[in-house]
Amino acid sequence: MSTLQAEHVYKVFGRRPGAAVRALRDGASREELRTDGATAAVIDASFRVEPGEIFVIMGLSGSGKSTLLRMLNGLLEPTDGRILFDGRDLTALSRRELRHVRSTKISMVFQHFALFPHRSVLENAAYGLEVQGADRADRERRAAEALELCGLSGWQDSWPDELSGGMQQRVGLARALATDADLLLMDESFSALDPLIRRDMQDQLLELQKTLGKTIVFITHDLNEAMRLGDGIAVMRDGRIVQQGTAEDILTRPADDYVASFVQDVDRSRVLTADAVMTGPGAGCSCGCPTVTPDTPLADLCAVSARVPHPVAVTGTDGAVVGTVAQDRLVAFIGDEHRAPVRCEEAAA
Ligand SMILES: Nc1ncnc2c1ncn2[C@@H]1O[C@H](COP(=O)(O)OP(=O)(O)OP(=O)(O)O)[C@@H](O)[C@H]1O
Ligand SMILES: [Mg+2]
Repeated sequence: MSTLQAEHVYKVFGRRPGAAVRALRDGASREELRTDGATAAVIDASFRVEPGEIFVIMGLSGSGKSTLLRMLNGLLEPTDGRILFDGRDLTALSRRELRHVRSTKISMVFQHFALFPHRSVLENAAYGLEVQGADRADRERRAAEALELCGLSGWQDSWPDELSGGMQQRVGLARALATDADLLLMDESFSALDPLIRRDMQDQLLELQKTLGKTIVFITHDLNEAMRLGDGIAVMRDGRIVQQGTAEDILTRPADDYVASFVQDVDRSRVLTADAVMTGPGAGCSCGCPTVTPDTPLADLCAVSARVPHPVAVTGTDGAVVGTVAQDRLVAFIGDEHRAPVRCEEAAA
């Protein structure tokens, strides 16, 4: 499995890119560079994606996500900084070595499925293997396996235009999985799908990930999607990564107003889990009330809390109580309200 690392990566398009990087380091803004005819698409991006992790890059249109992704697979060369793939600097590879890494170790899944209309579903799924030079029997076998993983067995001989958008995207995913590449780069892969199908694809990716354990970089402009999928999330704004962390970090401690404005639209009850709100181990109770585990989403914790007459006990894998969640604290967290409780004289009387 693969590790991916970006070290102080810059990408500047247009005039005098090297000088533009120096100016950025000296504090010049993206706008100042633009008046000089240079576009700073990615500015000083650093992160590390561990093997088997889903790392989500999230940001509005034009924030530099696709440019960053294209540098991760060597399609674009950074103006400055390094991309390390399994510890090897991509920019130091010869063209031949880079082509080899790209065709065997890295797969891309695009937003618009990019299927070949005059090839069958099976031939589309086998495309990456064809590029690798696999023989026909081998590529058909592996493509059929990948299609099955993506819930498309039985559709092998169909044409792409006979499939719905969601199914076409599954073919795109199968094509990426068929090559056995360790690193999957997904650029807005689910953004063109209807909300229900999109959710379905997210579930399927998470399910596949449990068994395949790929290293995945997933790009989206939707923070809910980022939080559902990402083990780690980087939020980009105007070329810079403005915050990196887990869904919980970003939700409970947004770095600035920009990140906070995204966070408003997130369903906190599905993203936050019991371990984010629990306090001290407490005593728990011995009466056999239902308990929850640290990874129980707050939405499910609410259902338990409504039935239990005291704080809900959170138990670890060995059954020992690791914390408790009081109802008022739970409600406050879902409402993003961490201020002191109001004292009500009438209630006290
Ligand atoms: N080849 C290029 N030449 C010049 N400018 C470019 C090039 N590619 C991207 N840009 C500019 O770099 C900036 C970042 O673009 P990029 O496509 O990476 O953004 P993005 O976050 O992927 O946006 P979207 O969500 O719309 O796909 C934009 O201002 C874009 O116009
Ligand atoms: Mg893009």
